[in-house]
Amino acid sequence: MSTSSTQGAAKSQCEQTRIERPPAHVAPPPITDAEFARFQRFIFDAAGITLGNAKKPLVIGRLGKRLGVHQLSSFGDYLKLLQSGGHPEEHQLAVDLLTTNETYFFRESKHFDSLREHALATRTPGRSYRVWSAASSTGEEAYGVAMVLAETLGEAPWEVLGTDISLRVLQDAVRGVYTMERARHLPPELMRRYCLKGTDEHAGRLMISRQLRDRVSFGQVNLNQALPELGRFDFVFLRNVMIYFNDDTKRQVVARVVSTIQPGGCLCVGHSESLHGLTDALQSLAPALYRRPS
Ligand SMILES: C[S@@+](CC[C@H](N)C(=O)[O-])C[C@H]1O[C@@H](n2cnc3c(N)ncnc32)[C@H](O)[C@@H]1O
Repeated sequence: MSTSSTQGAAKSQCEQTRIERPPAHVAPPPITDAEFARFQRFIFDAAGITLGNAKKPLVIGRLGKRLGVHQLSSFGDYLKLLQSGGHPEEHQLAVDLLTTNETYFFRESKHFDSLREHALATRTPGRSYRVWSAASSTGEEAYGVAMVLAETLGEAPWEVLGTDISLRVLQDAVRGVYTMERARHLPPELMRRYCLKGTDEHAGRLMISRQLRDRVSFGQVNLNQALPELGRFDFVFLRNVMIYFNDDTKRQVVARVVSTIQPGGCLCVGHSESLHGLTDALQSLAPALYRRPS
Protein backbone atom coordinates (compact mmCIF):
# COMPACT_ATOMS: atom_id res chain seq x y z
CA MET A 1 0.00 0.00 0.00
CA SER A 2 1.59 3.29 -1.02
CA THR A 3 1.22 6.08 1.46
CA SER A 4 0.51 8.65 -1.22
CA SER A 5 -2.52 6.72 -2.50
CA THR A 6 -3.74 5.68 0.92
CA GLN A 7 -5.59 8.86 1.77
CA GLY A 8 -7.54 8.79 -1.49
CA ALA A 9 -8.31 5.09 -1.01
CA ALA A 10 -9.67 5.75 2.48
CA LYS A 11 -11.76 8.62 1.15
CA SER A 12 -13.35 6.65 -1.65
CA GLN A 13 -13.88 3.52 0.46
CA CYS A 14 -15.53 5.67 3.08
CA GLU A 15 -17.70 7.52 0.64
CA GLN A 16 -19.16 4.19 -0.49
CA THR A 17 -20.25 3.31 3.06
CA ARG A 18 -23.26 5.49 3.65
CA ILE A 19 -25.45 5.05 6.71
CA GLU A 20 -29.11 5.13 5.78
CA ARG A 21 -31.57 6.60 8.26
CA PRO A 22 -33.47 3.90 10.16
CA PRO A 23 -37.21 4.21 10.75
CA ALA A 24 -37.73 6.39 13.84
CA HIS A 25 -37.88 4.81 17.32
CA VAL A 26 -38.40 1.14 16.52
CA ALA A 27 -37.17 -0.83 19.53
CA PRO A 28 -34.82 -3.66 18.45
CA PRO A 29 -35.97 -7.20 19.21
CA PRO A 30 -34.19 -9.18 21.95
CA ILE A 31 -31.15 -11.21 20.94
CA THR A 32 -31.05 -14.92 21.77
CA ASP A 33 -27.96 -16.57 23.27
CA ALA A 34 -27.40 -18.45 20.01
CA GLU A 35 -27.62 -15.26 17.94
CA PHE A 36 -25.24 -13.46 20.29
CA ALA A 37 -22.75 -16.34 20.03
CA ARG A 38 -22.86 -15.98 16.24
CA PHE A 39 -22.12 -12.23 16.53
CA GLN A 40 -19.19 -13.07 18.82
CA ARG A 41 -17.90 -15.39 16.06
CA PHE A 42 -18.62 -12.77 13.38
CA ILE A 43 -16.51 -10.01 14.95
CA PHE A 44 -13.81 -12.46 16.02
CA ASP A 45 -13.43 -13.75 12.47
CA ALA A 46 -13.57 -10.25 10.97
CA ALA A 47 -11.39 -8.29 13.39
CA GLY A 48 -9.96 -10.68 15.99
CA ILE A 49 -12.10 -8.93 18.61
CA THR A 50 -13.23 -11.06 21.55
CA LEU A 51 -16.65 -9.83 22.73
CA GLY A 52 -17.29 -11.01 26.28
CA ASN A 53 -20.68 -12.40 27.31
CA ALA A 54 -21.52 -9.12 29.05
CA LYS A 55 -21.55 -7.32 25.68
CA LYS A 56 -25.04 -8.39 24.60
CA PRO A 57 -26.46 -4.89 25.26
CA LEU A 58 -23.62 -3.42 23.15
CA VAL A 59 -24.58 -5.59 20.18
CA ILE A 60 -28.27 -4.75 20.56
CA GLY A 61 -27.54 -1.04 21.03
CA ARG A 62 -25.14 -0.67 18.14
CA LEU A 63 -26.68 -3.01 15.55
CA GLY A 64 -30.37 -2.84 16.48
CA LYS A 65 -31.03 0.08 14.13
CA ARG A 66 -29.62 -1.84 11.18
CA LEU A 67 -32.48 -4.36 11.48
CA GLY A 68 -34.91 -1.48 11.00
CA VAL A 69 -33.02 -0.21 7.96
CA HIS A 70 -33.28 -3.63 6.31
CA GLN A 71 -36.79 -4.29 7.68
CA LEU A 72 -35.67 -7.45 9.44
CA SER A 73 -37.38 -8.80 12.52
CA SER A 74 -34.54 -10.71 14.19
CA PHE A 75 -30.78 -10.51 14.75
CA GLY A 76 -30.59 -13.98 13.18
CA ASP A 77 -31.96 -12.58 9.91
CA TYR A 78 -29.46 -9.70 10.07
CA LEU A 79 -26.62 -12.22 10.49
CA LYS A 80 -27.87 -14.14 7.46
CA LEU A 81 -27.72 -10.91 5.47
CA LEU A 82 -24.18 -10.17 6.74
CA GLN A 83 -23.00 -13.66 5.91
CA SER A 84 -24.73 -13.97 2.54
CA GLY A 85 -21.73 -12.38 0.80
CA GLY A 86 -24.11 -10.10 -1.09
CA HIS A 87 -23.77 -7.05 1.18
CA PRO A 88 -20.07 -6.19 1.60
CA GLU A 89 -20.89 -2.60 2.58
CA GLU A 90 -23.22 -3.77 5.35
CA HIS A 91 -20.55 -6.23 6.51
CA GLN A 92 -18.07 -3.34 6.81
CA LEU A 93 -20.65 -1.18 8.56
CA ALA A 94 -21.35 -3.92 11.13
CA VAL A 95 -17.61 -4.20 11.80
CA ASP A 96 -17.42 -0.39 12.12
CA LEU A 97 -20.29 -0.38 14.60
CA LEU A 98 -18.86 -3.19 16.72
CA THR A 99 -15.45 -1.53 17.16
CA THR A 100 -14.82 0.90 20.02
CA ASN A 101 -13.07 4.02 18.81
CA GLU A 102 -12.47 6.13 21.94
CA THR A 103 -9.41 8.37 21.50
CA TYR A 104 -8.22 11.96 21.99
CA PHE A 105 -5.20 14.17 21.30
CA PHE A 106 -2.06 13.37 23.30
CA ARG A 107 -3.66 10.47 25.13
CA GLU A 108 -0.99 8.86 27.36
CA SER A 109 1.31 11.73 26.47
CA LYS A 110 4.59 10.19 27.69
CA HIS A 111 4.76 8.21 24.44
CA PHE A 112 4.94 11.48 22.51
CA ASP A 113 7.97 12.51 24.61
CA SER A 114 9.58 9.14 23.83
CA LEU A 115 8.84 9.70 20.14
CA ARG A 116 10.49 13.14 20.24
CA GLU A 117 13.61 11.73 21.94
CA HIS A 118 13.83 8.78 19.54
CA ALA A 119 13.35 10.96 16.43
CA LEU A 120 16.10 13.33 17.61
CA ALA A 121 18.50 10.54 18.53
CA THR A 122 18.09 8.45 15.37
CA ARG A 123 17.43 10.96 12.59
CA THR A 124 19.63 10.36 9.59
CA PRO A 125 20.11 13.03 6.92
CA GLY A 126 18.25 12.17 3.74
CA ARG A 127 16.29 9.26 5.27
CA SER A 128 12.61 9.65 6.08
CA TYR A 129 11.62 9.03 9.71
CA ARG A 130 8.47 6.88 9.50
CA VAL A 131 5.75 6.42 12.14
CA TRP A 132 2.72 4.13 12.04
CA SER A 133 -0.38 4.71 14.15
CA ALA A 134 -1.63 1.13 13.78
CA ALA A 135 -5.15 1.50 15.22
CA SER A 136 -5.53 5.19 14.60
CA SER A 137 -9.28 5.50 15.10
CA THR A 138 -10.36 9.03 14.10
CA GLY A 139 -6.79 10.27 13.66
CA GLU A 140 -5.98 12.25 16.81
CA GLU A 141 -3.01 9.97 17.56
CA ALA A 142 -1.59 10.26 14.02
CA TYR A 143 -1.96 14.06 13.94
CA GLY A 144 -0.42 14.33 17.42
CA VAL A 145 2.56 12.35 16.11
CA ALA A 146 2.76 14.63 13.08
CA MET A 147 2.80 17.73 15.32
CA VAL A 148 5.69 16.28 17.34
CA LEU A 149 7.64 15.41 14.17
CA ALA A 150 6.97 18.81 12.62
CA GLU A 151 8.34 20.43 15.79
CA THR A 152 11.29 18.06 16.09
CA LEU A 153 12.36 17.34 12.52
CA GLY A 154 10.84 20.34 10.74
CA GLU A 155 11.43 20.18 7.02
CA ALA A 156 13.58 17.03 7.23
CA PRO A 157 11.72 14.10 5.64
CA TRP A 158 9.22 12.29 7.85
CA GLU A 159 5.98 10.41 7.26
CA VAL A 160 3.01 9.38 9.38
CA LEU A 161 0.63 6.58 8.41
CA GLY A 162 -2.63 6.06 10.32
CA THR A 163 -4.58 2.85 9.76
CA ASP A 164 -7.66 1.24 11.21
CA ILE A 165 -10.10 -1.54 10.35
CA SER A 166 -13.06 0.86 10.50
CA LEU A 167 -13.79 2.94 7.40
CA ARG A 168 -16.13 5.16 9.39
CA VAL A 169 -13.32 6.41 11.66
CA LEU A 170 -10.89 6.73 8.74
CA GLN A 171 -13.34 9.04 7.02
CA ASP A 172 -13.27 11.30 10.10
CA ALA A 173 -9.48 11.05 10.26
CA VAL A 174 -9.08 12.22 6.66
CA ARG A 175 -11.43 15.14 7.34
CA GLY A 176 -9.39 16.21 10.39
CA VAL A 177 -12.17 18.13 12.14
CA TYR A 178 -12.59 17.64 15.91
CA THR A 179 -14.54 19.00 18.82
CA MET A 180 -12.48 21.08 21.26
CA GLU A 181 -13.35 18.47 23.88
CA ARG A 182 -11.07 15.97 22.08
CA ALA A 183 -8.25 18.52 22.21
CA ARG A 184 -8.22 19.17 25.95
CA HIS A 185 -4.69 17.68 26.24
CA LEU A 186 -3.35 19.38 23.12
CA PRO A 187 -0.66 21.90 24.18
CA PRO A 188 -1.85 25.45 23.33
CA GLU A 189 1.21 26.28 21.20
CA LEU A 190 0.64 23.18 19.04
CA MET A 191 -3.03 24.12 18.74
CA ARG A 192 -1.99 27.60 17.55
CA ARG A 193 0.53 26.29 15.05
CA TYR A 194 -1.28 23.32 13.54
CA CYS A 195 -5.02 23.86 14.01
CA LEU A 196 -7.63 26.28 12.75
CA LYS A 197 -10.27 27.19 15.31
CA GLY A 198 -13.84 27.17 14.01
CA THR A 199 -15.97 30.29 14.21
CA ASP A 200 -19.71 30.97 13.78
CA GLU A 201 -21.45 27.69 12.92
CA HIS A 202 -18.08 25.88 13.36
CA ALA A 203 -17.50 27.26 16.86
CA GLY A 204 -16.35 24.62 19.35
CA ARG A 205 -14.46 22.69 16.68
CA LEU A 206 -10.96 22.72 15.24
CA MET A 207 -9.53 21.64 11.93
CA ILE A 208 -6.02 20.30 11.41
CA SER A 209 -4.13 22.68 9.12
CA ARG A 210 -3.85 21.66 5.46
CA GLN A 211 -0.04 21.77 5.77
CA LEU A 212 -0.10 19.05 8.47
CA ARG A 213 -2.92 17.01 6.90
CA ASP A 214 -0.90 16.77 3.70
CA ARG A 215 1.89 14.99 5.58
CA VAL A 216 -0.34 12.31 7.13
CA SER A 217 -1.85 9.39 5.18
CA PHE A 218 -4.70 7.14 6.26
CA GLY A 219 -5.78 3.74 5.00
CA GLN A 220 -7.58 0.58 6.01
CA VAL A 221 -5.45 -2.18 7.52
CA ASN A 222 -6.85 -5.14 9.43
CA LEU A 223 -4.27 -6.16 12.04
CA ASN A 224 -5.97 -9.56 12.21
CA GLN A 225 -4.81 -10.43 8.70
CA ALA A 226 -1.51 -10.58 6.85
CA LEU A 227 -0.34 -6.99 6.48
CA PRO A 228 -0.10 -5.27 3.12
CA GLU A 229 3.33 -3.92 2.12
CA LEU A 230 3.83 -0.95 4.45
CA GLY A 231 7.62 -0.63 4.51
CA ARG A 232 9.64 -0.31 7.73
CA PHE A 233 8.84 2.10 10.58
CA ASP A 234 11.00 3.88 13.11
CA PHE A 235 8.19 4.10 15.67
CA VAL A 236 4.89 2.25 15.88
CA PHE A 237 1.93 3.22 18.07
CA LEU A 238 -0.16 0.09 18.75
CA ARG A 239 -2.21 1.49 21.58
CA ASN A 240 -5.50 0.50 23.15
CA VAL A 241 -6.41 -2.09 20.54
CA MET A 242 -4.92 -5.27 21.96
CA ILE A 243 -7.29 -5.03 24.93
CA TYR A 244 -9.94 -6.34 22.53
CA PHE A 245 -7.90 -9.41 21.48
CA ASN A 246 -7.33 -12.78 23.14
CA ASP A 247 -3.75 -13.95 23.80
CA ASP A 248 -3.43 -15.92 20.56
CA THR A 249 -4.61 -12.99 18.47
CA LYS A 250 -2.33 -10.61 20.40
CA ARG A 251 0.65 -12.88 19.67
CA GLN A 252 -0.14 -12.97 15.94
CA VAL A 253 -0.77 -9.22 15.72
CA VAL A 254 2.43 -8.39 17.60
CA ALA A 255 4.47 -10.70 15.34
CA ARG A 256 3.08 -8.95 12.25
CA VAL A 257 3.69 -5.49 13.66
CA VAL A 258 7.20 -6.30 14.92
CA SER A 259 8.17 -7.36 11.39
CA THR A 260 7.56 -3.77 10.24
CA ILE A 261 9.84 -2.13 12.81
CA GLN A 262 13.36 -1.04 11.84
CA PRO A 263 16.16 -2.47 13.96
CA GLY A 264 16.54 0.17 16.69
CA GLY A 265 12.93 1.26 16.20
CA CYS A 266 10.29 1.47 18.93
CA LEU A 267 6.81 0.16 19.62
CA CYS A 268 4.45 1.55 22.22
CA VAL A 269 1.25 -0.03 23.50
CA GLY A 270 -1.46 1.41 25.73
CA HIS A 271 -0.61 1.92 29.41
CA SER A 272 -3.04 -0.81 30.42
CA GLU A 273 -1.46 -3.22 27.91
CA SER A 274 1.76 -5.23 28.01
CA LEU A 275 3.74 -7.42 25.63
CA HIS A 276 4.79 -9.67 28.49
CA GLY A 277 4.81 -13.28 27.21
CA LEU A 278 3.75 -12.21 23.71
CA THR A 279 7.10 -11.71 21.97
CA ASP A 280 10.80 -12.06 22.66
CA ALA A 281 11.78 -9.95 19.65
CA LEU A 282 11.64 -6.66 21.60
CA GLN A 283 13.42 -5.20 24.61
CA SER A 284 11.38 -3.42 27.24
CA LEU A 285 12.54 0.21 27.63
CA ALA A 286 9.86 1.57 29.95
CA PRO A 287 6.27 0.62 30.84
CA ALA A 288 4.38 0.16 27.54
CA LEU A 289 7.47 1.08 25.46
CA TYR A 290 9.65 -1.44 23.59
CA ARG A 291 12.58 -1.39 21.20
CA ARG A 292 13.65 -3.75 18.44
CA PRO A 293 17.34 -4.51 19.02
CA SER A 294 19.73 -3.10 16.36
C1 LIG B 1 -9.83 2.45 21.37
S1 LIG B 1 -9.30 2.82 19.74
C2 LIG B 1 -7.60 3.26 20.01
C3 LIG B 1 -7.24 4.54 19.31
C4 LIG B 1 -5.83 5.05 19.60
N1 LIG B 1 -4.82 4.11 19.22
C5 LIG B 1 -5.68 5.41 21.05
O1 LIG B 1 -4.95 4.74 21.79
O2 LIG B 1 -6.30 6.42 21.48
C6 LIG B 1 -9.16 1.16 19.08
C7 LIG B 1 -9.18 1.13 17.56
O3 LIG B 1 -8.76 -0.16 17.13
C8 LIG B 1 -9.45 -0.46 15.93
N2 LIG B 1 -9.39 -1.90 15.67
C9 LIG B 1 -10.03 -2.91 16.30
N3 LIG B 1 -9.73 -4.08 15.74
C10 LIG B 1 -8.85 -3.83 14.74
C11 LIG B 1 -8.17 -4.63 13.80
N4 LIG B 1 -8.33 -5.96 13.76
N5 LIG B 1 -7.36 -4.05 12.90
C12 LIG B 1 -7.19 -2.69 12.91
N6 LIG B 1 -7.81 -1.87 13.78
C13 LIG B 1 -8.63 -2.44 14.69
C14 LIG B 1 -10.85 0.06 16.19
O4 LIG B 1 -11.57 0.28 14.99
C15 LIG B 1 -10.58 1.34 16.98
O5 LIG B 1 -10.61 2.48 16.16
